[in-house]
Amino acid sequence: MGIMSRNRILMTTALPYANASIHLGHIFEHVQADIWCRFQKMKGNECVFVCADDTHGTPVMISAQNRGITPEKLIEDIQKEHFADLTGFEVEYDNYYTTHSQESTELAQSFFKAMKAEGYISEKKIEQAYCEHDKMFLPDRFVKGTCPNCGAEDQYGDNCEVCAATYTPDEVKDPFCVLCKNKPISKESLHLFFELNHFKDFLQNWIGGHTQKEVTNKMMEWFEEDLRSWDISRDAPYFGIPIPGYEGKYFYVWLDAPIGYISATKNWADKNNKNFLDYWKNEDCEIHHFIGKDITYFHTLFWPAMLKAADYNTPEFVHVHGFINVNGEKMSKSKGTFINARTYLNHADPMYLRYYYASKTSPTSDDIDLNMDDFVGRVNAELIGKITNLASRGVQMLHKKLDGKTSVMDPDGEKVFNISIAAQDRISEYFDQREFSKAMQEIRSIAEDANKYFDEKAPWKTIKEQPEETRKVLTSVINIYKNILIYLKPVLPEYSKKAEQILNLGSLSWSDLEKTLVEHPINEYVHLATRIDPDQVNKMIEEEKKNAPTKPDTKISKGLPLIEFDDFMKVDLKTAKVIECNEVEGADKLLQITADVGDGETKNIFAGIKSSYSPDQLLGKTVVIVNNLKPRKMKFGTSEAMILAVDTGNGLSIVEPEKQAKPGVRVK
Ligand code: 2FM
Ligand code: ZN
Repeated sequence: MGIMSRNRILMTTALPYANASIHLGHIFEHVQADIWCRFQKMKGNECVFVCADDTHGTPVMISAQNRGITPEKLIEDIQKEHFADLTGFEVEYDNYYTTHSQESTELAQSFFKAMKAEGYISEKKIEQAYCEHDKMFLPDRFVKGTCPNCGAEDQYGDNCEVCAATYTPDEVKDPFCVLCKNKPISKESLHLFFELNHFKDFLQNWIGGHTQKEVTNKMMEWFEEDLRSWDISRDAPYFGIPIPGYEGKYFYVWLDAPIGYISATKNWADKNNKNFLDYWKNEDCEIHHFIGKDITYFHTLFWPAMLKAADYNTPEFVHVHGFINVNGEKMSKSKGTFINARTYLNHADPMYLRYYYASKTSPTSDDIDLNMDDFVGRVNAELIGKITNLASRGVQMLHKKLDGKTSVMDPDGEKVFNISIAAQDRISEYFDQREFSKAMQEIRSIAEDANKYFDEKAPWKTIKEQPEETRKVLTSVINIYKNILIYLKPVLPEYSKKAEQILNLGSLSWSDLEKTLVEHPINEYVHLATRIDPDQVNKMIEEEKKNAPTKPDTKISKGLPLIEFDDFMKVDLKTAKVIECNEVEGADKLLQITADVGDGETKNIFAGIKSSYSPDQLLGKTVVIVNNLKPRKMKFGTSEAMILAVDTGNGLSIVEPEKQAKPGVRVK
């Protein structure tokens, strides 16, 4: 990866799922990619940065159902939110698209056809959990049950959060569908597979040099055995791209997701009078993917194999980063450290986090700690204290006392200025190699030299007696600051724009490093950055704590899907009067109730409320029943309705109308 050899770059960040908000983990990836992209552009390289929302799959489909909207509407709304949040952190894409597009459909289908024509697709019938109530096959995450290992209830179909055992959905005890709580059946269906093993040799050779060494080493384990074929089809109902020639079958979301990289490029190219094939089928172009370590497998095995099969360029480099921890721990909703991008933006300037993330980025897949005290401390001490203060002190003094015009640098100042120029190759290399923390260290060190120079010269002491000597000192400081600004520009684009304005300069580029601002009028200082107050961070965390669900994240499994008003109207809720109530022999929990349901009709009901009520307590009460529940045969007789009661946590409490009501009145 030599710096000079990059003539054309196509780069991507992982496509965020359209069923969740952007959080500070996503921001780490998109900001580092943005820094890299801005750097490449400043160096004069052609660099196209695309991203998109990853819109398909069962969770999106269900999430839309739960909200009572179409998946199209959901993904449109979420895409707007994602785009606003990501660009809120000053990330600049050449295109931010969607995988639910004409381009994606055509490309995914043409990939499939190419893969099939080459004989890489096989068909096999497989058994899978199926919910007869929801009429769909259930992905692993949609089946819950009792852990076969430790007996913990309400565990996912593939692993137990209590004892950490992993298993398959058919091993789970008392499995249920998370959507309707019914027991799934096992059902057979034809699936399509991408036979990855054809690419084993190719991948094994390819992977070295196209991602970090430590990632390659880890991936090597996979090559010890044959590579398993990858199941790329899903049955309807599925929100996705139809598989040509296979009625009712769709591509698994992970097949069309990376193809979204190409469709986003195509969409950009078509709008900009370019040809997307110059980026995806031309060896002159380098493809760079920025991803988190959890999706390495997809990007270093499936994806290059797909590209190879369909005769596209394979990636030049897959840049794998680690996860973000907050204060040394995994991000946690209940602790308020699972911070959404929007929550951060409600309380703090994005440049602080860009600065901090840059200071922590290295080209490894190690996790990064966002330590909030360190974050506040470093931003204030370095970005404000060391760097911005140079500009504020230098420019303000030049304006107040010396008409805001530079002259020439003095010899000592020129030395520091030359040091700033001499650092350029190192800093370039660091940016190019994703060694941002080292680049930042170099930049800070220049700022330290400049501060030292400033303090030694003490211009505030000399300004009265030796104004022209002092002007030279301030000129030096401003010139050094200009170079710091050039180096910082990929990291702090908005800050840099304001600073360029102050320095009365156009858009700075790498080639402006050697330029000196001599006899150059500077504009009045405008505020560039405020110290961050620890309270801003506390408020951020408080806000997240308030948003946190009381239980672990179980959005899909808790609560039932939204229903239409008409569905609600199908439930015949009625008042009924308990006219007889008896214990049931042989049943510890049940009471037998005869209820007057109006119009001279009575119903026999078995209710599981004996633990909270005696027959006497219920007799004569007006209760609410589900009147049109299909009669249910029980061991002791048939129950013809159901009584509504609330589980108070301290026994059951019957739902009663507050005012007196006759039996048989509709409850709405
Ligand atoms: O892990 C994720 O968030 C996925 N939505 C990333 C997809 S990246 C790609 F391949 F498109
Ligand atoms: Zn179901």
